[in-house]
Amino acid sequence: MEVLRIRGGRPLSGRLRVQGAKNSVLPLLAAAILGKGVSVIRNCPRLTDVDASVAILEHLGCGVRRDGDAVSIDATAPLALDVPEPLARAMRSSVIFLGPILARLGRAELCYPGGCELGPRPIDLHLSALRTLGAEIWEGPAGLRCAAGALRGGEIALAIPSVGATENAMLCAVAAQGTTTILNAAREPEIAQLQDFLRSMGAQVQGAGSSVITVEGGAALHGGEVTVMGDRIVAATYLCGCAAAGGEVELEGVESRHLSTVTALLAEAGCAVESGEGRVRLRRDPETPLRAVHAVRTAPYPGFPTDAQAPLMAALCTAQGTTLFVENMFSSRYRHIDQLRRMGARIRREGRVAVVTGVERLHGGELEAHDLRGGAALAVAALGAEGESGITGLHHVFRGYADIARDLTTLGADAEISEKK
Ligand code: UD1
Repeated sequence: MEVLRIRGGRPLSGRLRVQGAKNSVLPLLAAAILGKGVSVIRNCPRLTDVDASVAILEHLGCGVRRDGDAVSIDATAPLALDVPEPLARAMRSSVIFLGPILARLGRAELCYPGGCELGPRPIDLHLSALRTLGAEIWEGPAGLRCAAGALRGGEIALAIPSVGATENAMLCAVAAQGTTTILNAAREPEIAQLQDFLRSMGAQVQGAGSSVITVEGGAALHGGEVTVMGDRIVAATYLCGCAAAGGEVELEGVESRHLSTVTALLAEAGCAVESGEGRVRLRRDPETPLRAVHAVRTAPYPGFPTDAQAPLMAALCTAQGTTLFVENMFSSRYRHIDQLRRMGARIRREGRVAVVTGVERLHGGELEAHDLRGGAALAVAALGAEGESGITGLHHVFRGYADIARDLTTLGADAEISEKK
């Protein structure tokens, strides 16, 4: 079993180019099956979720080649229409293949997806969007079967601005004859990147990044090209790490405006933040403790990201005063709290609210990651804690962080991954 060992309590110092974004690359890989031809995705991070997507692409019949950080996907050959159980269970985002398989083949079969356990994660909005485009869907005990005689454009009004449902709707609508309008669309930057990629494949899509997206569907698509944007959540994690440990770090390859709700709170907590074109720098005097912030409420973009809630909570465990967290997106995104308490944190939780009362310092311990961002949060806490921490459950972390030990070392931390004895 692998363990991430961090000897904490030393200020960070360094500069790092942030990896490509997990939440961008996954829908891009699924989109690649829409074009008869070769697509190239650059700056592709080495993540287990990417491996799971590549395994699905290969099962469907695509030729996939990796060359450094570029992945080429040849989707010219006739494709299979199913995502079988082990592949679907490896990653919740496998549901993102439903729209494009349906678009390409008029039929699709998917076992129910897996992924982090974050409470009930329904896919009703995905299915209702596909039904609006003309799909008939049968929900069996093991999975879904979808068929569409002819896909036709329509008006999809999402009850919640779901990221995945917005992406699935776009990925299917490109093959639907006529105009599709997606109302109350999610506005995450990763969706704008998906639009860029679809356009490079010959699709007519506009409005991504706003809450109304329009697709003129029906044109035959060819291979496209895209460079994956920097991962704003990985960047947020490392900024929180520097806030926890003190020191100064500069992150490159990430759009600072995508991070503004996170950096605003870190500034309120007493960090000096400087943002520039494609970079962000954070400094915190190790002698001066952080201050609690008023409240952290997670919300769809451009609100505070649920994915950054756990890392920020880890940093604010040693802030002077009391910070209120309200997790509005996923009911089980507080699984890191017990682990932080084991390090000495004072956190009270009731339902979606957690109240963090700052303590002078955390101490290292033997900890277990229960989900992706919760695991990253334990690393943040360990960076600021006294003594050594060992974090297991790293398979969760590897879903979204290509090489967290190397990144933290580049930023001046004492971190390594070793085999647990
Ligand atoms: C994506 C991100 C994930 C992030 C989340 C919220 C990817 C691969 N993952 O997940 O990291 O935490 O956005 O920013 O991009 N919902 C429904 N019915 C549905 C779909 C969603 O009720 O059919 C609800 C969910 O339970 C949740 C909310 O909508 O409460 C938002 O979820 P959604 O935006 O869909 O998250 P994901 O796309 O799964």
